[in-house]
Amino acid sequence: MRDRRSVRAFLDKPVPEEILHHILEAARFAPSGVNTQPWQVAVLGPNHREKISKAIIEARDNNVPENPDYQYYPTEWVEPYKSRRKACGLALYGALNIQIDEKEKRKVQWYKNYYFFYAPIALIFYLDAHLCKGSWMDMGMFIQNVMLAARGFGLETCPQAALAEYPDIIRTHLNLPKTKHIVCGMALGYADWAHPVNQYRTAREDISQIMVKYD
Ligand SMILES: Cc1cc2nc3c(=O)[nH]c(=O)nc-3n(C[C@H](O)[C@H](O)[C@H](O)COP(=O)(O)O)c2cc1C
Repeated sequence: MRDRRSVRAFLDKPVPEEILHHILEAARFAPSGVNTQPWQVAVLGPNHREKISKAIIEARDNNVPENPDYQYYPTEWVEPYKSRRKACGLALYGALNIQIDEKEKRKVQWYKNYYFFYAPIALIFYLDAHLCKGSWMDMGMFIQNVMLAARGFGLETCPQAALAEYPDIIRTHLNLPKTKHIVCGMALGYADWAHPVNQYRTAREDISQIMVKYD
């Protein structure tokens, strides 16, 4: 848990299918309310992956409005989240030596999201649309299990809400009905530790900011 971090550059080294199988096999032991197990995960092969990347980029380039199935972030940012969000962006672009006003360079970096950061494995997590917040919690636990299990095999990950910006594109290409909601994507592979984007770590609040003790 302490060593997991979001990795955004990967080695060009394939991940054996049985390793991915082991990861998902372990992750499915995540808890879920009344054992609903609401999680589903699409493992994209090169054909689907390329089509999805292309379609999302085309939509963005044509200023098609994002239409996510859920709102991840608040419309208005207040403290302390505002500052934490800012620090997160500064750390990422700082590691890449990209200044705040270098919009084009920031865009190039952001667009790597749509290529799953060129990781050998590209995943899309989705669930039934009628399910409620509780199931989204369960999904989060499943996703975390995937990320931790991956580390057990020397693999790293980046969860990606960016891949849920245009869920209709994902549904079309994966032949999913409207009754499935797209939660996020994930890049998974062997980290390229030499890449500057993987050279920083995000901070965490002190435990005293989290834990509230009552007698
Ligand atoms: C559900 C979820 C979605 C995320 N989406 C993105 C994303 O689209 N692109 C990205 O670069 N990072 C994404 N992140 C990574 C966060 O920025 C990262 O977890 C956070 O900055 C903390 O850093 P760490 O994961 O390295 O500990 C996402 C994280 C989560 C949990």
